[in-house]
Amino acid sequence: MSVRFLLDGEVIALDEVDPTGTVLEMLRMRLRRTGTKEGCAEGDCGACTVLLGELQGDEILWRAVNSCILFLPMLDGKALLTVESLGGGHPVQQQMVAHHGSQCGFCTPGIVMSLYGRAIGALGAEQSVADILAGNLCRCTGYGPILAAGEAVGRTPRDDSATVAALRALQAPSTELQFQDGLEGRERRAFIPRSADELAVLYTRHPQARLVAGATDVGLWVTKQQRVLDDLIFIGDIPDLRLIEETPEGVRLGACVRYTEAQAVLTNLHPALGELVRRIGGAQVRNTGTLGGNIANGSPIGDTPPALIALEAALTLRQGGNRRQMALEDFFIAYGKQDRQPGEFVESIFIPRPRETALIAISKLSKRFDSDISAVCGAINLQVEAGHIRVARIAFGGMAATPKRARAAEAALTGAAFNEAALDQAAALLAEDFAPLTDVRGSSAYRLAVAGNLLRRVWAEQQGEVMSVLELAHG
Ligand SMILES: Cc1cc2nc3c(=O)[nH]c(=O)nc-3n(C[C@H](O)[C@H](O)[C@H](O)COP(=O)(O)OP(=O)(O)OC[C@H]3O[C@@H](n4cnc5c(N)ncnc54)[C@H](O)[C@@H]3O)c2cc1C
Ligand code: FES
Ligand code: FES
Repeated sequence: MSVRFLLDGEVIALDEVDPTGTVLEMLRMRLRRTGTKEGCAEGDCGACTVLLGELQGDEILWRAVNSCILFLPMLDGKALLTVESLGGGHPVQQQMVAHHGSQCGFCTPGIVMSLYGRAIGALGAEQSVADILAGNLCRCTGYGPILAAGEAVGRTPRDDSATVAALRALQAPSTELQFQDGLEGRERRAFIPRSADELAVLYTRHPQARLVAGATDVGLWVTKQQRVLDDLIFIGDIPDLRLIEETPEGVRLGACVRYTEAQAVLTNLHPALGELVRRIGGAQVRNTGTLGGNIANGSPIGDTPPALIALEAALTLRQGGNRRQMALEDFFIAYGKQDRQPGEFVESIFIPRPRETALIAISKLSKRFDSDISAVCGAINLQVEAGHIRVARIAFGGMAATPKRARAAEAALTGAAFNEAALDQAAALLAEDFAPLTDVRGSSAYRLAVAGNLLRRVWAEQQGEVMSVLELAHG
């Protein structure tokens, strides 16, 4: 089978596809569409931004993505737009010229594509221009003119009727791709199942295969670590893993729900959760990366696990026809080791609705506000009744080899009067809970100190002190 996709209305079929070949390479080397640039090859700079469209009912859902870490099979059955698709006269391009938004021009195609996505109502288009562009770096123009250009562009809806018809004709059943690696001489296979049931069967049969959801982690293993990955199963488009179900008890998110798709429902659960999602990567990463990937990668500095642990989230894991549930905190056993059997995958995540009286604080501390990895991410969930803390659930990322609860601090707070002294005492006990590493993101002492300050901050905020860096900046 080949990978088939639409490029400006034309069906492109790629036979002999290296399943870890990137869309950027294909555009520049194979199709000679060199408008799309390569800056970092790791999803950080946005120079390679393109729009990817998928059928949703009678419409196309477009989203801006980083083509440098998008594997070719992820194009299958979709439509692609590059900066060349716009010609030269789109209002986004006109406004970039009018506002002097481009000097050397290297970042410009990516910025134009991000702004074009916003103009046509792509996924996440309701976000501010600054949020849409946080994943597009410019080294020379300065952001003032670029933001002004973005603000000046109104909505310019596309007529997608021809694309809808063409994509309908392209829809493919499950696909298996075979590739003979010329350099390594290895036979590599890629599977694109179309349902969770198919995935369950396939993964039981090929438990050695690597699952790929959004590839915002896995992509870098290839582009940065030069790893050759053998069998792959692409799961990011499986509809039943992308369901969002809201009930009075909480929210169930399929493992492959992308951050941007989850943002509204998570904000509804608690605004701090929505704000955390807003700060994950840039828009292109949030349009591709999944919650399931953030959990399954087992990273000690993934942003969602501490928050979800503090909110008592639970996982559903599936292996063949068997499912089991577990508290999210129990999934993380040790560094690089999760409670997942061969052939078992994360199917969904359930987040119970917090009590209305819960005091919830979620804070990400990173060197740069936007589009950066956490040094420490803390989540605090306190139930305060009649001036006393009845229940305390506190979890941190960046403080241990796994996302982890602060048990000593929790024990000290449970039953204590809710006051500054209690939070000070809990902050001191974090040294019993954690012995954090020193690395490029922060020293061990820094991490312990700021984690304690996150606890103290809960009290300070209750006293009306302004704590948010954004409010301080604008205050
Ligand atoms: C520029 C950039 C910025 C980033 N910023 C942040 C950030 O601010 N905060 C943050 O936390 N992360 C960040 N990340 C990391 C990444 O985006 C997230 O971890 C993301 O959630 C990974 O999801 P994915 O779908 O892309 O995972 P993939 O890359 O597709 O997979 C990641 C791992 O999870 C496994 N996996 C995926 N889905 C499942 C499943 N359903 N069941 C079992 N295993 C599965 C894969 O096999 C792989 O081992 C960033 C990445 C980039 C490139
Ligand atoms: S080249 Fe930098 S994000 Fe793709
Ligand atoms: S115009 Fe030169 S990098 Fe943006």
